[in-house]
Amino acid sequence: MNFIQDISTVAIALNIFFKHSIAGNERVINQPPLDTIISSLGLEKWIRQGGLEGPELQKFLENYLRLHTRLHHPGYLGHQCAPPHYSASFAAMINSFTNNVASVYEMGPASAAIEFFLINWMLEYVGWPKMPMKLDERNSFDYGGGAFINGGSIANLTALAVARSKVFPNIWKKGHPSHLALILPSECHYSLTKAAGVLGFGSESLYFTDTDEKGAIVPDRLPFLMKKIKSEGEHPMALVANACSTSVGVYDPLDEIADFCEQNHLWMHVDGAHGASALLSEKHSQKLKGISRADSLVWDAHKLLQTPSVCAALLVKNHQHLDAGLHVGTKASYLFHEKDQPGFDSLAWTLETTKPGLGEKLFFVLGALGEKGLVDYIDSRYEITSMAYNYLMSQPDFECPVMPQSNILCFKYMASDELQLTLRKRLLEIGEFYLTSTLFKGSRYLRLVFMSTETSLSHVKRLVESIREIAKELK
Ligand SMILES: Cc1ncc(COP(=O)(O)O)c(C=O)c1O
Repeated sequence: MNFIQDISTVAIALNIFFKHSIAGNERVINQPPLDTIISSLGLEKWIRQGGLEGPELQKFLENYLRLHTRLHHPGYLGHQCAPPHYSASFAAMINSFTNNVASVYEMGPASAAIEFFLINWMLEYVGWPKMPMKLDERNSFDYGGGAFINGGSIANLTALAVARSKVFPNIWKKGHPSHLALILPSECHYSLTKAAGVLGFGSESLYFTDTDEKGAIVPDRLPFLMKKIKSEGEHPMALVANACSTSVGVYDPLDEIADFCEQNHLWMHVDGAHGASALLSEKHSQKLKGISRADSLVWDAHKLLQTPSVCAALLVKNHQHLDAGLHVGTKASYLFHEKDQPGFDSLAWTLETTKPGLGEKLFFVLGALGEKGLVDYIDSRYEITSMAYNYLMSQPDFECPVMPQSNILCFKYMASDELQLTLRKRLLEIGEFYLTSTLFKGSRYLRLVFMSTETSLSHVKRLVESIREIAKELK
């Protein structure tokens, strides 16, 4: 084994992959059938005999990378995964190599310290008090808290578990009480209904808010929903708001929702997995006005902060709710005992035990670009989305259901629902563009998420042409 030689081979292959991706001169997506990939990569041979190194590694990488979806490609308009800054891959590699665990300070002091520091950086943007550095200052006042978590879905689950412990502290002894309800936005991410089910909420105890034409919560309608919940003998414990929604990228009016939650003593959780990054931007942070009045927030760096998957943060206004929220019980005596504690273990604040350094991926991006670099990225992606909206709306055969508030834009070519899926299928086969599709208000749309730094209005115009050409072929 020659580590230096092999890592140079990997670096050279990735550099070629990256250059071709940003130039847009390869397919953005290439998905042969499963069995073709397994045999063309020779997986059977490699796992039996080993020896994937040197020139063999080089050959393998050529083939292997050709089968990757290219997130840096200008035609990448697909799911909300960041085209990562290359510096973040150093963090992923170093952490995989050293295998340091960020959740236990003594198992990864540098990783844990970076996470602690970055959680404070995020808390500051939300407007919640930062965690004190010194151990003896902890518990002396109410300050925020948080941890990096393996994805927004698990972070949402963790947030709801913490909320339930606050509302019903006996939960760890008595189990999930009957008649406990949850208020969710009609446009919520599916991880929330899944999390609710895992926590013991039956679908009958989930109440969905009324929404306006953009799919945003209508605060004035919340008292009616509350009345209905109570009349059915249910006790709501929390309300979730979007910042922003997955389908069309619209922000809920957090300030007005916070008024309602305060009046009704509801835990307010904000799912900002996608859109909380706008807090960094002077231009767009107003979209999250009122966020500091919430109780918890999920914020994914692997969506709008050019950070590789996954790097999600769960943040809370008051760290004591995290302390009390997830009981560690008595079975973890190998982890929890008296010891020198020069740092901080985030272990008790998450559902996971062994957890890699997630925050350091974000740190390396920030270290390379600085905050200003990330703000410019967010602003430019929100701006191109707005330009694309104006362009599509000026075309007689295209329509958008909602004016975009983020980098997510839905549209439809002509009227029919079925046509949208046929168009997507054909576009993916051609491989010049990768886009997704969603239902919004019961109707099927094509969906663009402007993630790549390389995508400009000229690509949107080309996409429009391409859709028209496909539609002609279909006739
Ligand atoms: C609003 C929202 N919440 C949660 C999630 C889930 O996050 P993750 O994919 O990191 O699990 C997503 C993912 O797209 C999302 O858009």
